[in-house]
This record gives sequence, structure tokens and C-alpha cells, in this order.
Amino acid sequence: MSASPRPFYITTPIYYVNDRPHIGHSYTTTVCDVAARFHRFLGLDVFFLTGTDEHGIKVEKSAAERGVSPQALADENAAEFQRVLRMLDFTNDDFIRTTQRRHTLQVERFVQRLIASGDIYLGQYEGWYDEGQEEFVPDTRAKDQEYKSAVSGRPLVRMREENYFFRLSAYQQRLEDLYREQPEFVRPEARRNEMLGRLRDGLTDVPVTRTSFSWGISIPGQDKHVLWVWLDALSNYVTALGIGLEPGETDLVPPGRARFWPADYHVIGKEILFFHAIFWPAMLMALDLPLPRCIYAHSFWISEGRKMSKSLGNFIDLPTIQGYIDSFSLDAFRWFLITQGPLGSTDTDFARTKFIEVYNSDLANTLGNSLSRVVNMIGKYFDGRAPRPGGFAVSGFDWPALTNAAVDAAIASMARLELSEAMGSALGLVRQVDSFIDATRPFTMAKDESKREELAAVLYQCAEALRIASVLLWCAMPNKIEQAWRMLGQNIDPTAGNLRDLCRWGGLKAGTAVVKGEALFPRFADTEPSAQ
Ligand code: MSP
Repeated sequence: MSASPRPFYITTPIYYVNDRPHIGHSYTTTVCDVAARFHRFLGLDVFFLTGTDEHGIKVEKSAAERGVSPQALADENAAEFQRVLRMLDFTNDDFIRTTQRRHTLQVERFVQRLIASGDIYLGQYEGWYDEGQEEFVPDTRAKDQEYKSAVSGRPLVRMREENYFFRLSAYQQRLEDLYREQPEFVRPEARRNEMLGRLRDGLTDVPVTRTSFSWGISIPGQDKHVLWVWLDALSNYVTALGIGLEPGETDLVPPGRARFWPADYHVIGKEILFFHAIFWPAMLMALDLPLPRCIYAHSFWISEGRKMSKSLGNFIDLPTIQGYIDSFSLDAFRWFLITQGPLGSTDTDFARTKFIEVYNSDLANTLGNSLSRVVNMIGKYFDGRAPRPGGFAVSGFDWPALTNAAVDAAIASMARLELSEAMGSALGLVRQVDSFIDATRPFTMAKDESKREELAAVLYQCAEALRIASVLLWCAMPNKIEQAWRMLGQNIDPTAGNLRDLCRWGGLKAGTAVVKGEALFPRFADTEPSAQ
């Protein structure tokens, strides 16, 4: 390759350390992990960032309740989030913590720049405040919400403070232009419309410091003015790349990372869209930095038909996730999240019966079954060696064209973060292999010595189509697909950036040893009384 590969930068929100990781965090991170793995495999220069949001009143309060220091609480829970990253096999390139010096130093510099440019100024605030969301609520909205939090339902509190403000109102016009010129800046469409509504309401300046707590980054030289956690947290997307460092300051962030900015995707949940889609671009405009290409705000998982809540005790929490992994495998869990998850604009139910249905239909009966049928037939009829392609063709099954179309569709869907569509294209190939077997009946051909050539061609085409499908499926199910590669005699390095080459028809060499292995996804018969 001559030209250097295109950078691709994808981020998760950084998670609050006063909560334990659950399905919500795991979901967003899985989405990013699958996209990161696929684009690395495709040959892009990928950077995938996640981390923890460690400052703010919520962390200060939780720590006080537990009788530990905020830093100790942050250390403990950041370690827990990192353990989960390993448990779920995530391939993040870094893990940023907002208490790290590399982050706080750059945030202080950004604030100094914003004060110097007049984008941050000292003023007086009096108004309603949502403590859970760490968000000031304008009077009209507070009234509409009956003075309760739109998220937690808890009463809003009245605040009166001397604060520093960010001059958000000055960016109204530029944000409107951005939304018009870059219609995919916020996706999906329903979420973009929500933000257009916020813009129509008109933007007011945002208080960006508090004096009511101390756990955070102070305005340089003014200890009592502690930065609002959102200004601090959003900056992680650029501090991890060292955007606020001076040339030569290479000890905090590895040099060269600035090439990843602007981000291709900030993947977030819908409840934190305003901060990402309005406040963050305005802040970047004020700092004279390029804007991310797309803020992708997915919807929520609910649990067995009901909103997840502590009081209902129906959180899909880590022990529950571990239970699914133990029963079905990690890759099956990832597959369910990716193909069924709420990337669109409606919430999705995480239900055990649905999980089993998807597992059995997509994985046991389709992918696993198709692979073992083909491998077994090659074992039986060709001594476990991939047969020769031959020239036998069946109408309706132009395999080079079918596989090319699926590969192109999967790549295009992935680029748009349409993960379930991308996986649908790959699994569609597997389903076509099944139809091909039904149409050609190789087990019947095998009884007729004169059909030997045809049999060879049919099984070659099946194995080759499965090989190409497997390359596309690796990002979602890396462990199982590596097992499939061993069965198909493939020695593939998914870090080599050669996905397109590997997907070219004819890559399977005649004579390759094809070996039976354990069933990839044994059929699951539910024995739990609750699921019936
Ligand atoms: N710390 C802020 C984000 C700062 S980003 C600069 C925060 N943290 S959080 O721990 O509350 O994480 C919120 C994120 O977790 C959501 O945006 C979403 O990605 C994920 N989810 C939390 N609950 C969820 C569901 N029930 N379903 C899907 N994802 C959800 O907000």
C-alpha cells in the first residue's frame, strides 16, 4: 500500500465511576468495538477510545456515603470498568480517566484559552438544577417538567451562585448552519430532529463552574470555582489525543495521535445528546478545533419489557451478563447486542426468550449448522481436503457475484454504523449456502460416482462462501470465527488490514486441510422454568 491508511476514530461516552458497569455501558462499548475491529481489518488506521468520568458532585457524594475519598472510589470503579473491558474482549486503544494529569492539564489550558477569548465569562446564576444529570434546567422547561428531573423524576433544586458561563448563545447561528450543511452530524434522524427543536427554542449561556463542591478541576488560580463535569468530561475526546499539548510534550500522550481528530463517531446513549450535539460542537468552535463527523445517539435497552431500575431490581447487570456468557458464549452475547440492539430510535427489550430464539436461529441452526455440514461432507467425501473448484454452476447461485455484493454491502453498512445490516449481509451468505445445499443435494450426488466433479464444485463453493462470510463476521464474534477458521484450514491475521483481499472469490486453495471441530454453537434447549 502506498498512501497511508485513513484514520478512523471512534469513542464511547466515558462512564461515571459512581455506577457499576451494566448492559448499557457494555452495549455502547460493544458497538464501538465491532466497528473498530471491522475497520482495522479493512486496513484503516483505527483509534478506539473509552474511559471513565471521575469528577463531579455525584462521585463526591457517593464517596462520602461510603466513607472513602472520591479518588479511592474512582480508582476502585475504574478498575472494575477495565476488568469488564477484558471480560468482553474489547480492543480499545486507550482508557482515559478524567483524574489523570494528562487530561486535567489540557482541560485547564482549554479553559484559559476560553477565558482569554471571552467565551467563558464570570456571571451570576439563579435557576433550577437537576442534580442527577448535573444540568441546569431553563425555567420554561423546569415548569413543563413540573420541577422534576426528566430522567430520574427527582425534584429539581433551586441554585443561586456566582458562576463562570460559557457563551453558548453566541454559537446559535453557526450551529444552525452546521445542522443544515451536515445533515448527518446527528444520527439517527429522530434524534437530529430533537436537537433542531432545541436550537429553535434558542440557546442560552451555560454556567460551567460550581462553587458547591470541590471534587473536580478548578479554574486555574481560582480554587473555589470547580468546572462543571460536562466541560471536563467532553474534553476527553481530544485530551486522549494530546490536542491540548505543546509540541515536544511527549511524556503524557504518545506523539502522533492528533491525526485521529476529528472523530468519525461519538457513540452515545440518547440521554446525553444535548451535551454532545450542541454544547460540545460550540466548545470546539470556540477553541477553533474541527468538529466530529457524527454523533450517533442510540436508544435504550429495557429489561423483560420494563425500564431497568434499581427499585425493580431488573438491571441486566454484570452477574446476569456473565450468566448469558456462561450459557451461550461471549460471542453469542455480542451477536445479540449487535444484531438486536437499539441503534435505531426505539428502545429494545432484552428478554431471555428472544435471546434464545436469536441464538438458535442465527447461530446454532444457521452459522454453526452450515459450517459443520460442509466441513463434515468434505471430511467424508474428500478426505478432509478442500476439493477443486471446477466449472459447475447452478442457476441463481453466481457465487463470485453473490459474495462480492454481500462484501460491498457489509462494508458500506459498517461505514454508516449500521451494524445489524452489515451482519445481515454476512449471515445472508450463510443462508444462501443452505439454500444451495438444498438445491444441489450433495449427499445424493455423493452416491453417484459420475457426479464426482459436480460434488467437488458444490462443496468448494459452499466452503468458499462460508470462508468469505466468516471474514465479515469476525468483528462481531472473533473467538468463534477463529475456531471456524481452524476448521476451514485458514491462517488469517485480522490485524493485517487485508479484509478486501481475503474476501475475493477463490481464496480457498484446493487441498487445504478442512477439519471437523467442536460444534461452534450447540443448539440451546431451555430448561429454565421462567422462560417456558
Ligand atoms: N459520564 C457521562 C458521559 C460523559 S461522555 C463525555 C455519562 N456516563 S454514564 O455512566 O451514565 O453512561 C451513560 C451511557 O451508558 C449512555 O450514554 C449509554 O451509552 C449507556 N447506557 C446507560 N444505560 C443504558 C441503557 N439502558 N441502554 C443502552 N445504553 C445505556 O452519562
